[in-house]
Parts: sequence; C-alpha cells; structure tokens
Amino acid sequence: MKFFIDTANLNEIREAYDLGVLDGVTTNPSLMAKEGIRGEENVRNHYKAICDIVDNNVSAEVIATTFDEIMREGRELAKIDDKIVVKVPMIRDGVKALKAFSSEGIRTNCTLVFSAGQAILAAKAGASYVSPFIGRLDDVSTDGMALIEQIVQIYQNYGFATEVLAASVRHSMHLIQCAEIGADVATCPLSVITGLLNHPLTTSGLEKFLADHKKVNG
Ligand code: E4P
Repeated sequence: MKFFIDTANLNEIREAYDLGVLDGVTTNPSLMAKEGIRGEENVRNHYKAICDIVDNNVSAEVIATTFDEIMREGRELAKIDDKIVVKVPMIRDGVKALKAFSSEGIRTNCTLVFSAGQAILAAKAGASYVSPFIGRLDDVSTDGMALIEQIVQIYQNYGFATEVLAASVRHSMHLIQCAEIGADVATCPLSVITGLLNHPLTTSGLEKFLADHKKVNG
C-alpha cells in the first residue's frame, strides 16, 4: 500500500518524507490556497519544490473545466517534472481529457469521485489513479469505506490498471480499513500517518525497559 500526504505544506511533506514511508503527495486548489500560493509562476515553482522533496507521484490539479483548457493546463503541469500526476475532476470534459492524457503518456489522478459509476468511467478512460473521497461521503451520512470496497472489487473483476487512491482520509482507522480492503494508495494529512505510531503499551513498555536498564547500568 502506498502512502501519499495530502498537503501543499513543504515542512509537512519533508517531515513525512524523513519518516521513510512516503510514496507521494496530493494537492488540490484549496490546499494550495491554504499555503497562500497564487499566480501561475508561483504555483509552478511550488510544485517543483514539492517534486524536489519526494521520489515520485505529485498530484497537481488543473483549474480548467473545458477539454481544451484542461489539456493545455495539464500539459504545462506535466512539463514541470516527471513526478507530476495531472489531477483532473470527474466531469464530462475531464473524462475525455483522461483518455487523451493517457494516449500522450501523461499520468492522471481522477478526483472528486463519489460513486462506483464514476470510478468505472475513470478506469475506462485510462486514469492512472482514481480518488474516491471517503470523509466527504461520511460527512453526508453515506458510507465512504463501502465505496472503496465496491471500487476495489469492480477493478479486480476486470483487471483495470487504474489504482484506487483512497482520498479524504480523516483518521487512522480510515487508513487501516483501506489497507484491509486493499486500496492501492491512501492520501491523508501528516497527523493520520504519525497517528499510526501511537500505542500506550508501546509508551509504557519502553519506559519500563529503559528504567530496568538504568537500574543495573546506572
Ligand atoms: C485528495 O486528493 C483530496 O483533495 C483530499 O483528500 C480531500 O480531503 P478533504 O475532504 O479532507 O478536504
């Protein structure tokens, strides 16, 4: 299972990378805005800075919503670095663009996916990744994890190459359930990844080991 960090904050990306378990980064326009990144050149430079930290898989989202503009913007993003994955929304022109990017050898992440039907379309269009949003479905009293399970099953049935990238992962149990189901990737905030570290028996056990060692060694 791959771990991506869902942020545009360079310090958080560095911290996750230093832990040695990071496989990529996802961003979106809201996360870029949160870091105060504005203007085409600043956006490009910021994506380049992210690419310089991690080994691969940096999702950069297009703002355009029409086919020609999505293609123009996506090609520009892909030129920034080989690590870039162009993130395209699940809309009609987005599906067309997924197919076109795929034939040009540009990797894609189809975002804002909330149903199995949308995930089938993304896979048929040749998306490299599909991003179903767990937390946002949970927010509207719908079982986000059930959608991950459904998509994993459908992709297995037909041997689709598209990887299931569980997005909008809000806590450590989401991440663990995604791993049980067999999602290929989960993207989440740093706190969810570091949250996996914690167990009170680890803390108390280590305290006891160190205290016992000190008793005989001074
Ligand atoms: C990732 O690609 C998504 O943009 C992100 O996971 C959305 O998460 P949120 O619902 O917590 O904003």
